[in-house]
Amino acid sequence: MSIIEKAVEKLNSTAIDHRPVHPHGESGTVSDAGHDGLEQTRLVGRDQSPVSKSSIAPNVYKPVDIEISFEDLAERGMVTPDSPRSPIAEEYRSIKRPLLTNIEGKGAVVLRHPNLIMVTSALQGEGKTFSAINLAMSIAMEQDKTVLLVDADIAKASAARLLGVPDSSPGLIDVLEDDNVYIGDVILHTNIPNLRIVPAGRMHDRPTELLASQSMYKVVEELAERYADRVVIFDSPPLLLTNEAQVVASLVGQIVFVIAAEQTSQRAVSEALDMLDEEVMVGMILNKTKHTFTNKYGYGYGYGYGYGNTRETN
Ligand SMILES: Nc1ncnc2c1ncn2[C@@H]1O[C@H](COP(=O)(O)OP(=O)(O)O)[C@@H](O)[C@H]1O
Ligand SMILES: [Mg+2]
Repeated sequence: MSIIEKAVEKLNSTAIDHRPVHPHGESGTVSDAGHDGLEQTRLVGRDQSPVSKSSIAPNVYKPVDIEISFEDLAERGMVTPDSPRSPIAEEYRSIKRPLLTNIEGKGAVVLRHPNLIMVTSALQGEGKTFSAINLAMSIAMEQDKTVLLVDADIAKASAARLLGVPDSSPGLIDVLEDDNVYIGDVILHTNIPNLRIVPAGRMHDRPTELLASQSMYKVVEELAERYADRVVIFDSPPLLLTNEAQVVASLVGQIVFVIAAEQTSQRAVSEALDMLDEEVMVGMILNKTKHTFTNKYGYGYGYGYGYGNTRETN
């Protein structure tokens, strides 16, 4: 039995929970956004001419903050909007499907904040950032989905940088630290119209305390409710190495757990899965598997996807 099968079996054997659906879930829309509506604000100093409130109407021109280089992404073997039929794009098509089904409320269970998706793993270097970006790209390629990719591995932030965001850009840390900075202030628009980025923000010496703080709870609640029509993907810290990953895990509706084939030990997978709440939906990506046919070097990566369901509706 593979690691992933064992992990799925473990998930399926955990206790059934019937947590009620959050009463306010899914109620917010962009139109009820206040100061921090997605399209209407810019952090003062970065852009002195905030987009007026009237410009939050759909289909209006939005200034692009970040030009993502599709070439760079393709070089790293990632999903790019201009190659929707590449092998990696096909793989992420099947990885995203169950996540989207849950967001639409058509899954086997009703989740509290299904639009909030955390990408995590047991340890460092297993492919969290790689998977988070691919997932964000893949979902942003859907016609009717807007994705917010949040760089929440604040101690080792790399997602935003990989997409061309300067390290000096304000982000999540600034929102958590300063009551006057709102999440809408730090959202960056990209050349992919359906993809927005929240960078990690400037370095902080105590990232654990920040992510585990009450402000993080507030930010996540706001993302879930005010931006209920968005898919929010958190590129997150590893579960076994940090405390804050567990905090983030307790706030989201769905978790994508990345397992690096032939790298992550079964014990590490099992310990990390034990740290997750029972009411969260956990999917798994088996990353870095060896294919002998996927590229000309005869050595590549592939994905397996197991879906563990921790509770039933009845
Ligand atoms: N499936 C994959 N194919 C190609 N490169 C990968 C794959 N998964 C991870 N990598 C590479 O491995 C390194 C570590 O991955 P990363 O996503 O940064 O890990 P993490 O965020 O879990 O620390 C990065 O250089 C990344 O580009
Ligand atoms: Mg990372």
